[in-house]
Amino acid sequence: MKYAIAVLKGDGIGPEIVAEAQKCLDEVAKRFGHEFAYREALVGGAAIDACGTPLPQETIDTCLACDSVILGAVGGPKWDGLPAEMRPEKGLLGIRKELGLFVNLRPAKLHAPLADACPLKPERIADGLDLVVCRELTGDVYFGAKHRDEDGTGHDDMNYSIAEVERIAHRAFRMARQRQGHVTSVDKANVLETSRVWRETVQRVALEYPDVAVDYLYVDNAAMQLVLNPGQFDVILTGNLFGDILSDEASCITGSIGMLPSASLGETNLGMYEPIHGSAPDIAGKNKANPIATVLSTAMMLRYSFGLAAEADALERAVERVLEKGCRTGDIAKADERVLGCSDMGDAIAAEIQDLSAMP
Ligand code: NAD
Ligand code: IPM
Ligand code: MN
Repeated sequence: MKYAIAVLKGDGIGPEIVAEAQKCLDEVAKRFGHEFAYREALVGGAAIDACGTPLPQETIDTCLACDSVILGAVGGPKWDGLPAEMRPEKGLLGIRKELGLFVNLRPAKLHAPLADACPLKPERIADGLDLVVCRELTGDVYFGAKHRDEDGTGHDDMNYSIAEVERIAHRAFRMARQRQGHVTSVDKANVLETSRVWRETVQRVALEYPDVAVDYLYVDNAAMQLVLNPGQFDVILTGNLFGDILSDEASCITGSIGMLPSASLGETNLGMYEPIHGSAPDIAGKNKANPIATVLSTAMMLRYSFGLAAEADALERAVERVLEKGCRTGDIAKADERVLGCSDMGDAIAAEIQDLSAMP
């Protein structure tokens, strides 16, 4: 089959990690007889520099004309001083909104060979770590009205409608049915009105899924539970802001933020696939970034947008294999381990895909 993929490399390490993901996808295409046609478009700082706006209409049109979108990362110090509407991050928020991507799945899994890279004591991860943050992506304080008073006071309006909570809650419960059958809804209902709407709505939706266990945590406790006993979680259902923060926390339990992929989905098959990390300006252009989060994001693309489960499994298995063989970028390496560059890691994963016949 032929698939059209919009490629939004973005800024910082974005171009480096996306190149490695494409390298691996091309091996998948060869091995399984598919054709992936890439259409590049600009977003973030790269788009500001070229077109004066972080999200040109042409980029939206390209994404809408494709079967899926791969995004690297946006942002960097060069653009930090720009007004809010002109920041690279606004381009990312804009594309999520334009494409109607209201659910962001962020699976965090501790791969056995990386147990040493986990900063928690071994007894804390005795039950392992295999959770997915189901983050609402087009609402919350991110998209509420913003303004500054004359005296300099800043305002960000936080809101959630019942309909917005319902649609993400259904996704989380359905996902739990495919997993361990457990949803933890995270909010701040002891303080925030939006969170009270969130909790009441989730409680109502939960009645339609009597086979799924559900519990409710305040976000401060959830942040603590994640490091105390991360094995207790299966699906974490939460809002845009809390999901952003908790997923970075969950990522470091897996060894590094460079490991965590994500899928941003809406009502259609058109999804956007991006690592959860940012543009990492401190290591950009140095061939030091870990491309695994991006590679695993494209595995999610194969599964969710294209329905290619065997291909997605193969890509994920190839990542497992290179980790088992001891391939490490700097972020997941122990002090005495040999460190691979970003492109070496991409080469290693691509070679494993080539070698699929040897896989069990
Ligand atoms: P960051 O995720 O870019 O970096 C945080 C730390 O993690 C840095 O030390 C970085 O080197 C490291 N890191 C991140 N990805 C890595 C990888 N693949 N391999 C190895 N190490 C990695 O977060 P930040 O520094 O807070 O933000 C930098 C810029 O990125 C900001 O402009 C921010 O707005 C933007 N950002 C963009 C996205 C996105 O595009 N989805 C996400 C988060 C932050
Ligand atoms: C992420 C990022 C973005 C977010 C920023 C860059 C807008 O942190 O994708 O996690 O907060 O959603
Ligand atoms: Mn984030």
